[in-house]
Amino acid sequence: MKSDIKNLELAKKGKRRIEWAASLMPVLRLIGEEFAKKKPFKGKRISACLHVTAETANLMRTLKVGGAEIFLCASNPLSTQDDVVASLVKDYNIVVQAVCGEDRKTYYKHLKAALDFKPNITMDDGADLVSELHSKRKEQIEDILGSMEETTTGVVRLRAMEKDGALKLPIISVNDALTKHFFDNRYGTGQSTLDGIVRATDVLIAGKTVVTAGYGWCGRGFAMRAKGMGANVIVCEVNPVKAIEAAMDGFMVMPMSKAVNLGDIFCTLTGDMNVIRSEHFGKMKDGAIVCNSGHFNVEIDIDGLKKISKSKKQANTFVEQYVLKSGKKINLLANGRLINLAAAEGHPAGVMDMSFANQALCTEYVIENYNKLENKVYPVPDKIDKLVAELKLRAMGIKIDRLTVEQKKYLNSWRVGT
Ligand code: ADE
Repeated sequence: MKSDIKNLELAKKGKRRIEWAASLMPVLRLIGEEFAKKKPFKGKRISACLHVTAETANLMRTLKVGGAEIFLCASNPLSTQDDVVASLVKDYNIVVQAVCGEDRKTYYKHLKAALDFKPNITMDDGADLVSELHSKRKEQIEDILGSMEETTTGVVRLRAMEKDGALKLPIISVNDALTKHFFDNRYGTGQSTLDGIVRATDVLIAGKTVVTAGYGWCGRGFAMRAKGMGANVIVCEVNPVKAIEAAMDGFMVMPMSKAVNLGDIFCTLTGDMNVIRSEHFGKMKDGAIVCNSGHFNVEIDIDGLKKISKSKKQANTFVEQYVLKSGKKINLLANGRLINLAAAEGHPAGVMDMSFANQALCTEYVIENYNKLENKVYPVPDKIDKLVAELKLRAMGIKIDRLTVEQKKYLNSWRVGT
């Protein structure tokens, strides 16, 4: 099958970036060495719909070395790194259909091609591929042994399918692994979202009031890192427990309707739609910066913003400046798409190492266990999660204590009390 890419001449730069990322992904490297011996994917075709980054390129190399034939397309039209794509095609002989900035039609054409590839395994970041499969290619479902899902939003969609009885293949929720969401969602999103905001605007974070909508793992990471850079952080939440947690973590907690008067920078990380709406834009400070780091570009009501604006200009590469009818300016970043992948490079390789180690080991798990799996969303097996943690600790040169025989016995007995 043919690749659809921006420019093959970018391959040299892409290869250098893939190799640099590989040097920061020691767990994936170890798994690749095992796969090279065992060839667990021999004769299998894998279609992956992921953010096409240098880190993803290393996951694809790992699966390929394990014997798989690979097709890769983008899980977001703006996150593709075109130089990485060029190298995957030229240097690693992997079929890729992804172009940064592709329109909606092309995005779906590439998803369709991922299914034309006739995969036996699929991999998603946001569940678009599984959704296409269930709505347009039902006849292909029986050829697919299982699928992996990378992100919270995708898992929410897939659990809704399962609840409706609509899910027709087993899914492993990679996002649910502790070695995934504790680190990728928190530290990965925290660092890369601030990186994206800074690259897009060059704004000084210190002394600014940063409003975080959502206090899940991503919101927690973002709030923590913004505070670390000297911002005053406000958290907006709908979940009462998370709201208490945010308050006790030392953040101001209030509804968006109040936060809009105070914020300089707003970032949505909720997984829900229309979190910032026209009623909010009107009350923001002149020059407020608004962005999203949740999976889909639905968290900011851009149509609402357009309706209350009289004009708009491209103020910087990733900054669209809307002038409201009142004369106030609102700076929207990256069209409301994932700011960390659109304006920066996504999560650092050191954290994607664990996320993609889970992806690789779960792919092997599906191949070995598909006949025992039902059409459900499964968590990552504990054994895999623990192995990833142990390998990462080892790679970080950190040793930890082991329970003594006496301690193990104590933990397993109910007779010993005060
Ligand atoms: N999601 C967030 N950051 C990513 C990265 N660097 N590569 C792939 N997927 C990601």
